[in-house]
Amino acid sequence: MSDKKIAIGIVGSYRKQGVIDTAVSEVLSALQNLGVEIKKIYLLDYNIEFCTNCRTCLQPPGVTRGKCILKDDMEDMLQSIDSADYLIIGAPTNAGYVNALTQRFIERCVCFGYWPWGTAAPVLRNKIIKKRSILVSASAAPVLIGKYFNGTMKALKTLSKYLGAQPIGDIWVGSVTKKEIELSNKIKEKATTLAQKLIGK
Ligand SMILES: Cc1cc2nc3c(=O)[nH]c(=O)nc-3n(C[C@H](O)[C@H](O)[C@H](O)COP(=O)(O)O)c2cc1C
Repeated sequence: MSDKKIAIGIVGSYRKQGVIDTAVSEVLSALQNLGVEIKKIYLLDYNIEFCTNCRTCLQPPGVTRGKCILKDDMEDMLQSIDSADYLIIGAPTNAGYVNALTQRFIERCVCFGYWPWGTAAPVLRNKIIKKRSILVSASAAPVLIGKYFNGTMKALKTLSKYLGAQPIGDIWVGSVTKKEIELSNKIKEKATTLAQKLIGK
């Protein structure tokens, strides 16, 4: 077995080779150049059912995430994510928030919480943070408006927390108005800098 650290890029966008995918790939390739093993998960490629609010996964106490009764691809995906040291989590800003596919995935990550019936809110089961993450989003709006006047960052931080990863930085691609996808040199440089920071270099 390789002793290389593993980075997984989670792409919540509907577009492969779109802005999110391209920005996540930029960080992953910088990490690969630094000797990290990389993998990518496109949420689009997996069967992710809606959480039905049955709360079965939330009832048993303990630090291990609860078992969902739905038979889809979530368990396999989460096992894969468990094995990562670093996560690059990307989702576009749609209607002021992460897009629906990413939100569907976030809701299914509720299994990382403990929420017995009769209590007001879930608590995170395992508070030991072992992973580090970089959060990625994009918007048609310029960066400052996209990032600070939408709920996307909050949602990505919540997802990172569920997955046991501490965010060390973010990449926001603003003013996405053209059909052609090209990252600016500034974004590319940031991807490299954040990759180094992620692995502690
Ligand atoms: C349905 C939809 C809703 C969107 N809503 C917003 C929005 O509320 N604010 C914004 O700035 N951009 C919005 N956008 C633009 C996307 O955030 C932008 O095109 C982004 O690059 C999409 O990611 P992708 O390139 O990976 O597909 C929206 C795009 C779509 C298709």
